Amino acid sequence: MITGGVQALRRSPSGRVGGRDLDPIVESAREASYPPPYPEAWYVVGRSIDFGDRPTFVQCVGNQWVVFRDASGHAQVVDAYCPHLGANLADGDVQGDSVECPFHGWKIRGDGCVIGHANGGEPDPRHRTRSWAVEELHGWVLVYHRHGTASEGPAPEPPYRLERLAAIDDGALLWRGEHDAGLVHMHLLEFVENSVDFQHFAAIHGRLRIPWTEIPVPGMRIHHEATWRRDENQKHVCWFGNDATLEFRGKQIEGSGAHADVRLEGPGSIIRFDFSLSRGSGRVVLYQSHTPIAPLTQHVRFRWFSDASVPKPLASFIVGNWVSQWRQDIGIWENKIYREKPMLTRGDGPIHQLRRWYSQFYPAAAAAEAAE
Ligand code: FES
Ligand SMILES: [Fe+2]
Repeated sequence: MITGGVQALRRSPSGRVGGRDLDPIVESAREASYPPPYPEAWYVVGRSIDFGDRPTFVQCVGNQWVVFRDASGHAQVVDAYCPHLGANLADGDVQGDSVECPFHGWKIRGDGCVIGHANGGEPDPRHRTRSWAVEELHGWVLVYHRHGTASEGPAPEPPYRLERLAAIDDGALLWRGEHDAGLVHMHLLEFVENSVDFQHFAAIHGRLRIPWTEIPVPGMRIHHEATWRRDENQKHVCWFGNDATLEFRGKQIEGSGAHADVRLEGPGSIIRFDFSLSRGSGRVVLYQSHTPIAPLTQHVRFRWFSDASVPKPLASFIVGNWVSQWRQDIGIWENKIYREKPMLTRGDGPIHQLRRWYSQFYPAAAAAEAAE
């Protein structure tokens, strides 16, 4: 629907804009203001349990992929469309270590090589498709998205691997829940840039909300102290720190402090929150992921873990508090443009520094710039 004229922007409870429901002219103007939509990174394509015996079609980050499990159960990803005549491999079957095309029976392995034909003819070694690096991280399957039309065959080694948490692998932290937040119409950069936008915390996140809702708690405010830094050893990582304390009618509540260390891995596609509860009473780890399925559309997912000492409802309360605060930003993100040259003031965080860090996820653009 194309709409014009003056419209009030109304927010729905989820933060979606009711007033101008994705006007294509506005959306294309917004999109034109941003850097390209799909920086190189690891992106979640689904939960591990979603990928079973059948090949599965996935569309995201400008790609169409088929995900299947080989005979040892490892997830494999290749381009969805068969290199022969283009059938969708997700309509086929898994045979041993390969996916078999439904059209003429080519068998394609996870490294992109065609290893057999249903008619028994010898495969041509030149017949290959693109394959993609895959990892499973604490219940999610992720694919490394790279730019360009890199050659067919085995996926190149990604510039970094995802950091696993030993405490989850060894069972010290228990899985406590997950939440599929659906789609948010924003650019991926906005989430990362939010972490250095120190001035918005009081304006957008100053009110305590009932966890998982947007309902404010009367009289209660949250005071935030935020920090941001690049990781000294891993250039694809940056850290956001937040100390939050509760205030009731302007007075700080004793013992209400909570600290969050937030590790952003890649351009905001995977974020790990480590919440330490006050007085050392436990640890909650939350993962948040953003997967662009269209230039200004992110699929947002959460899953979380905690010490056994933190009861499941308390872990849900802490995560729900974060999710309520995160939702406060959505109405802004879904309506804004990107200012390449923002007018900054004293008190704004290190926005230019953040943007320089973020530009590493466009290696082709950086290489072209360096060559000029
Ligand atoms: S289109 Fe896949 S084998 Fe022919
Ligand atoms: Fe925010």
